[in-house]
Amino acid sequence: MIDLRSDTVTRPCDAMRQAMAEAEVGDDQFGEDPSINELQERVADLLGKEAALWLPTGTMANQVGLRTLTRPGDDVVVAAGAHMVWSETGAGAANSGVQFTELGGSRGWFDRDEFLAARKPRGHELLPPTTLVCFEDTHNRAGGVVVPLEMIESVCGAARTEGVTTFLDGARLWNAAVALDVEPARLAAPFDVVWVAFSKGLGAPGGAMMAGPADLIARARRYRRMLGGAMRQVGVFAAAASHALDHHMDDLATDHANARALAEILASSDAISLDPAAVQTNIVFFRLVPGAPDPQTVVDRAREAGVGVFAFGDGIRAVTHRDVSADQCREAASILVAAAEA
Ligand SMILES: Cc1ncc(COP(=O)(O)O)c(C=O)c1O
Repeated sequence: MIDLRSDTVTRPCDAMRQAMAEAEVGDDQFGEDPSINELQERVADLLGKEAALWLPTGTMANQVGLRTLTRPGDDVVVAAGAHMVWSETGAGAANSGVQFTELGGSRGWFDRDEFLAARKPRGHELLPPTTLVCFEDTHNRAGGVVVPLEMIESVCGAARTEGVTTFLDGARLWNAAVALDVEPARLAAPFDVVWVAFSKGLGAPGGAMMAGPADLIARARRYRRMLGGAMRQVGVFAAAASHALDHHMDDLATDHANARALAEILASSDAISLDPAAVQTNIVFFRLVPGAPDPQTVVDRAREAGVGVFAFGDGIRAVTHRDVSADQCREAASILVAAAEA
């Protein structure tokens, strides 16, 4: 199967497995895993933050972030469609007791005025105080959209003035940095706390890392344990992540080019509604025109013909990654067009 369901399907390559086999390890709950300690310093540096903390998954990074930075009853402002609202089984409410205010519709971001209009002040008898504002960059459900940096800077500036903490779900921050051709630290700079993933386009088998001020990261470490995410000889994962940072980062640009090529073929079909220019990174989201089959039918037909994609909202999502070639992306696009036109 040409598997375009997600960039999370990437498998560790031989060199990565070799690095994992050779990793120096220790007990990370005692702070004694040298590979993790080195990676934490490296990622803190890459993101321009004081300290960093290993987390087993991105979902746990979001949950530890919420638990660390909010109190029950708080209001958290996010871009509509955020992973932490839609794809984490209600964990924000269950674990941290927060409510979410989603802003910005389907575009994947919101501006300063929208934020200020939605923000609820502290100390009011009725209102749930807005204590955290979050972005997701790139924004998954919006189709891998890179959030405009000036938008982030103006919202985070306003948040700082209002005493609201800022948090970035950077599951695909590397993709945003490559798309904008800027250092990851530039995209992390407006935020108090940021996390990044190794298990998506970078191709490692797991892991995320949260970075921010040392006092907040120390608190996050406690909540990581509370939520069951403190691990032991996790340096094997750190070795995979380090290998990915050393060798896989440049390949993200290829994923983006493959996504654009795939989108151009899809857009040539009368059955498909898609603007290829809107494809900025490795995620292609497209809709079917009225009269065409529904998304699940197209997904099922494509699957039978050897292409994996997801029905996502009212459309279909295809994600390019390091385990699919340019030729396979073109082939997949032709199969999807045939499935949509049949
Ligand atoms: C934007 C975003 N945030 C968080 C996550 C959660 O990451 P994980 O699958 O490692 O829990 C994902 C997963 O795809 C994601 O796309």
